[in-house]
Amino acid sequence: MKTVTIRNIKDYVGETVKIKGWVRNYRKASSKLRFIILRDGSGEVQAVAFKPEMGQAKFEKTKQISLESSVEAVGKVSIHPKKEDVYEFQLIDLNIIGQSEDYPIGKKAHGADFLLSNRHLWIRSRKQIAALKIRHTVYFAICEYLNENGFYRFDSPILTPNACEGTTTLFEVPYFDLGSAFLSQSGQLYLEPGITSLGRVYDFGPVFRAEKSKTRKHLTEFWMMDAEAAFVEHEENMQIQQELIRYVIRKVIANNKTELAELKRDIESLQKADNEFKIITYEQAISILQEKGSEIAYGDDFGATQEELLTEDSAVPVFVEKWPKEAKAFYMKRDPENENLVLGADLLAPERFGEIIGGSQREDDYELLKQRMQAENMPIEDYQWYLDVRKYGSVPHSGFGIGLERLVQWMSGIRHIREVIPFPRMINRIYP
Ligand code: 4AD
Ligand code: MG
Repeated sequence: MKTVTIRNIKDYVGETVKIKGWVRNYRKASSKLRFIILRDGSGEVQAVAFKPEMGQAKFEKTKQISLESSVEAVGKVSIHPKKEDVYEFQLIDLNIIGQSEDYPIGKKAHGADFLLSNRHLWIRSRKQIAALKIRHTVYFAICEYLNENGFYRFDSPILTPNACEGTTTLFEVPYFDLGSAFLSQSGQLYLEPGITSLGRVYDFGPVFRAEKSKTRKHLTEFWMMDAEAAFVEHEENMQIQQELIRYVIRKVIANNKTELAELKRDIESLQKADNEFKIITYEQAISILQEKGSEIAYGDDFGATQEELLTEDSAVPVFVEKWPKEAKAFYMKRDPENENLVLGADLLAPERFGEIIGGSQREDDYELLKQRMQAENMPIEDYQWYLDVRKYGSVPHSGFGIGLERLVQWMSGIRHIREVIPFPRMINRIYP
């Protein structure tokens, strides 16, 4: 007999097939009728156990199941009598593969701490499954867009000899006789030599930040996609980011209807975000914030509150560009029109989700970059390989990094970042 996935049962209406999965829930409707919700990762279906159809002995077996038991069910696929596009499974037989004893989640409301300690089980819950499926779509949509636009995958190392985004937030690990290595904060510095080899490159993997931020938007281990392109300047860099994000929005809306509905995500807001993004300068952002009563001063970085204020009136994401150089990393190219500014932009998502991308044109002048590094007391010898990109055929180039979880948060409308990664790593949590 054919084993099918629940997602595909619509193709088997009227046929007898086997489903393998877990028991999400069950209820007794009468002494002869029981409903069992089966799930198998691909979807969920209601199985109907009807004693006159199954016979006494097989019907009795359906009484042995418990929440989250794994089962093998044989039945006939039927169309739901009342709901459109919904299918049911008329049970013929059901066998338990693995009994589940006193499944701890689902009987009552749980606190966040309990759920996080049981993350290995919590991921079976509907909302969590929906978030993880949206994550899957976002991940592949980013890769697809890049692949279709001439970017080659160029994986950067995780063990690195030096910092990319500043030395204060590094995880240090012992490295044989060479002293210490550091877990990568971003693959960007390695992607830059990558463009001299392949033109347009990207990486996508876990990065690590030992920052002591305890917020709804910070993980110590998160997934970043860094992209880098030769001969692309600041304006075009923002254009690529915009196209990429709008591509992701459309993919999520098209592929994740069920999941967005499960999460009660307001799809109209996502659709509205798929329009020309706004661009404001850092200086304009400061005036907007001050007009709104914020006490921010020129030169300050933005926190969540400022990011929310800057996007509250916008249906589309907002780029904040041309930052004072002191506020940004050493590698950003200085603005030819004002040497105190850099050609960097952060992309802020609407609906209070805040920064999802950090990007910039890179300094391509050997001397200017070296001076900037010296001014920041960076060990030049350690970064000679990075400076060499400016020594042997330097080109204007730009890139950006997307925080995968931040983007998934926005797409799925989930307020806490810990729910959009399978096993979150935060400053106060590393189990399970
Ligand atoms: O703005 P960031 O620090 O930029 C860079 O690392 C650049 N080197 C990227 C590049 O140009 N290739 O980080 C990029 C993005 C942020 O916009 C945010 O979405 C996410 O990474 N991010 C975090 N996500 C979760 N937890 C954290 N602690 C994060 N820190 C940054
Ligand atoms: Mg940033």
